[in-house]
Amino acid sequence: MTTPDAAEEEHQARFDATIARDQRVEPRDWMPEAYRRTLVRQIAQHAHSEIIGMQPEGAWITRAPSLRRKAILFAKVQDEAGHGLYLYSAAETLGADRADLTARLIEGRQKYSSIFNYPTVTFADVGVIGWFVDGAAICNQVPLCRSSYGPYARAMVRICKEESFHQRQGYELLLTMMRGTDAQRAMVQDAVDRWWWPSLMMFGPPDSDSPNSAASMAWKIKRHSNDELRRRFVDMTVPQAEKLGVTLPDPELRWNEESGRYDFGTPDWSELQRVIKGDGPCNAERMARRREAHAEGAWVREAATAHAAKQARRRARRAEAPEGAGV
Ligand SMILES: [Fe+2]
Ligand SMILES: [Fe+2]
Repeated sequence: MTTPDAAEEEHQARFDATIARDQRVEPRDWMPEAYRRTLVRQIAQHAHSEIIGMQPEGAWITRAPSLRRKAILFAKVQDEAGHGLYLYSAAETLGADRADLTARLIEGRQKYSSIFNYPTVTFADVGVIGWFVDGAAICNQVPLCRSSYGPYARAMVRICKEESFHQRQGYELLLTMMRGTDAQRAMVQDAVDRWWWPSLMMFGPPDSDSPNSAASMAWKIKRHSNDELRRRFVDMTVPQAEKLGVTLPDPELRWNEESGRYDFGTPDWSELQRVIKGDGPCNAERMARRREAHAEGAWVREAATAHAAKQARRRARRAEAPEGAGV
């Protein structure tokens, strides 16, 4: 007979072997409690970011300059809602409860990405968000398609395809504006100046100051460090900026012949800390809007719950009734 301790050790050994072989951990598999907790936290934070992330651009749907731009923006913002839903579902496979996760968000007990606490001042911001923010999301999320937790990794495959459309629509919008008037070009440059540093901060604090990273890397939830992902984003974005004809607002940005990559300046980490703590330009507004939307949706949740209960009662009656009773 195995003792509980020996059983636990055996489970742990099997889990470690799964990770070492680069195989997937699935919902019914045994997993260490800390692995489960870390995943729930990361997936919930990711889901919240998708949902809150609908707000900055959503604000421009009614003011899009043409029917075509409106349709594109509408599709993009709807995609983000879908991303949130896949991710809440992935968190539920770990035993989390979606209503509880939503409560944690609206009570301020769980975070979302700091980037969505910045305002969208002009329509050029819509383009720059697509180019930078969705571009940064791609850098972050493509490696997550190989994350060790199966449902999260599989959700990422579809999400990344849609993020790639988001990035292209943003870049194409900016190319169009850059072919326009001087005023339009100035709008694009202004949006680039405002979004560049907050976008670099999307990858999180520097590795030296990122307490959860080491465990996530060992468990292969995360595949690359914050600093490495940030560098990849810079390497990807600089040539795109040159093609577009805008200047990235970093005097230290230059090509490093030796490393074959770009060197760049240091973001203002105190700003990131401030925004994370709730003191960004739009934190209060984003949270207020999310709470309002949640309250406005109460009747939908009640109706869906009542409908599900009615369906369950019907099914139960049908199961009880004798064959052919015509219930
Ligand atoms: Fe998304
Ligand atoms: Fe996106």
